[in-house]
Amino acid sequence: MVCILGPSGCGKSTMLRIIAGFDTSISGQVLIGGRPVKGPSSDNIFVFQHSGLLPWMTVWQNVELGLRHMEDNEKKKEKVQEYIEMVELEGFEDHYPYQLSGGMQRRAELARAIVVNPDILIMDEPFSGLDFLTHMKIREEVVNMHELFGKTTLVVTHDIDDALIMGDRIVVMSGRPSSVKLERKLDFPHPRNFEKETELRELRDEVFLMLGVSYAV
Ligand SMILES: Nc1ncnc2c1ncn2[C@@H]1O[C@H](COP(=O)(O)OP(=O)(O)OP(=O)(O)O)[C@@H](O)[C@H]1O
Ligand SMILES: [Mg+2]
Repeated sequence: MVCILGPSGCGKSTMLRIIAGFDTSISGQVLIGGRPVKGPSSDNIFVFQHSGLLPWMTVWQNVELGLRHMEDNEKKKEKVQEYIEMVELEGFEDHYPYQLSGGMQRRAELARAIVVNPDILIMDEPFSGLDFLTHMKIREEVVNMHELFGKTTLVVTHDIDDALIMGDRIVVMSGRPSSVKLERKLDFPHPRNFEKETELRELRDEVFLMLGVSYAV
């Protein structure tokens, strides 16, 4: 899991779009598993975005959408149920997105992303707009799912703590014209704790300073 930080407007979302193959008008090239990305591919990459649920479909139908190519209906049903349970939405299968809270919607989106079983999961500010507790819980869920499935995951976040708590690697980008300012491997076990890990706390101060905040609380 690589977490990307950087000031607003430096091109983080643009970079994710390029990696996902939505924007090919670039001068360089993106290689995934040694092969150049030539356009969007829903088999390899899933882009997790909030409000990514289809509003006219129920939770069940939204999750099932990722398995539309699966032929065995019984297996498909089992799988959809399994993932809905994994994100603790059992009982809400027949609800439409507008009938769910923000956190529940985000959990349904997570189920939808994971059920596809993509090689790469791309997340652009996955926790934005959530209340503090829901943010913490869903972050924990993303870390757990990552530990369970080990999918290559790219996360863009404005939240330095999110990056340091979740990432196996962090990349800090500079303002425009952007370049990589810092890249660091994080070899700390989960669950991570700033109180206990002095090195992680020091890195946190360093990244805050790098992004222009001298007195981070
Ligand atoms: N390398 C670049 N060269 C030229 N234009 C760029 C480049 N990177 C980004 N831009 C342009 O800058 C604008 C903002 O980029 P983008 O949305 O990717 O920023 P961001 O880092 O995701 O910002 P935010 O944190 O606010 O979401 C877009 O209009 C994009 O086309
Ligand atoms: Mg962005």
